[in-house]
Amino acid sequence: MNVLGIDTSCDDTSVGLVEDYRVISNVISSQDAVHAEYGGVVPMLAKRAHEENFPQVLRLALQRAHVTPQEIEVIAVTRGPGLAPALEVGVTQAQRLAQAWQKPLLAVNHVEGHLLSALAQSKNGRNGWQPQASDFPLFGLIVSGKHTEIVLIHDWHSYEILGETVDDAIGEAYDKVARLLGLGYPGGTLLARFAQEGNPRSYPLPTAMRQSGDLNVSYSGLKTASLRLVRELTRDHTELLTKQQILDIAASFEAAAHETLLYKLQKAWEQHPEIRHLLLGGGVAANTALRQKLRQMARRFNAQVHVPYTKKLCRDNGAMIALAGYLRYQHGWTPGGAIDRKPQWSLAEAE
Ligand code: KG4
Ligand code: ZN
Repeated sequence: MNVLGIDTSCDDTSVGLVEDYRVISNVISSQDAVHAEYGGVVPMLAKRAHEENFPQVLRLALQRAHVTPQEIEVIAVTRGPGLAPALEVGVTQAQRLAQAWQKPLLAVNHVEGHLLSALAQSKNGRNGWQPQASDFPLFGLIVSGKHTEIVLIHDWHSYEILGETVDDAIGEAYDKVARLLGLGYPGGTLLARFAQEGNPRSYPLPTAMRQSGDLNVSYSGLKTASLRLVRELTRDHTELLTKQQILDIAASFEAAAHETLLYKLQKAWEQHPEIRHLLLGGGVAANTALRQKLRQMARRFNAQVHVPYTKKLCRDNGAMIALAGYLRYQHGWTPGGAIDRKPQWSLAEAE
């Protein structure tokens, strides 16, 4: 069954298609260049860029999948969470297509898309992991530019958020510290690359919320501590950081950022030692060091970590929305009436 998925939740315009679990196309048009000079996403500029990019992205997605509109069974679109003006473009376009092509339209939660992306198969039907009923409950870990959530997946589409960030998301912290180090925007990926060459024990940076008694995490303290460290090392920005200092700050930051999360995940696992599978999703899921550490932890609990088969599926993309839509449809969700965007929409309410 062919499902077309649309995501315009933030600064990527994306349309993807799946045939059941198989990703048959996934086109992403990035707006990084539009927002770079502002050091963050400007909602109205994002909206305009989505409107401009959408027709071309849609055309390419259909072309690469070798699928005609007649061959599509369902259209899925991100309803939220995300930036209201940006979401609006995807929802409007999806509604227009559903009407023109006479197809059912399903609203999808963006975070659910990230969460289920490790299940996707590549075009040749390989990769990905598809849980059986007996595999539930599962753990889900969402690490992106806007979300940091430890999720208990009771069953298909039944989620309980065990812990989440009380301030910045982990990807946001990567981007902010990258900016502080002069690595540009968005610099998370670059910072991660630098971290591989630095010494993570060079500078002790805080891992917050250890004593909080819950499974929540926080990243604003780590960001402030990194800022203070850079200020000290540059004597109030009057001197430049050396290359070695940048590598070492990146490595120290990354170690603390990971430790914050791993500490709480371990607590969650100790509370649910029967869980054998973790689904990892979101932009920061592309981070190799984080994947390694998670695999190490999972081994201690006799469990496996499942990651998207390609890094493209970690970032915001339409194929993950198509897959989440496909699975919802398979599990009995029927398209409702008109869809309205929902900028604040927790995974736990997405049933
Ligand atoms: O999932 P995503 O594309 O957008 C959101 O829904 O938020 O995630 C983007 C985030 C950015 O903050 C980016 O810096 C971060 O993912 N990111 C990484 C890596 N690749 C992307 N962070 C750490 N290591 C990476 N390799
Ligand atoms: Zn996202």
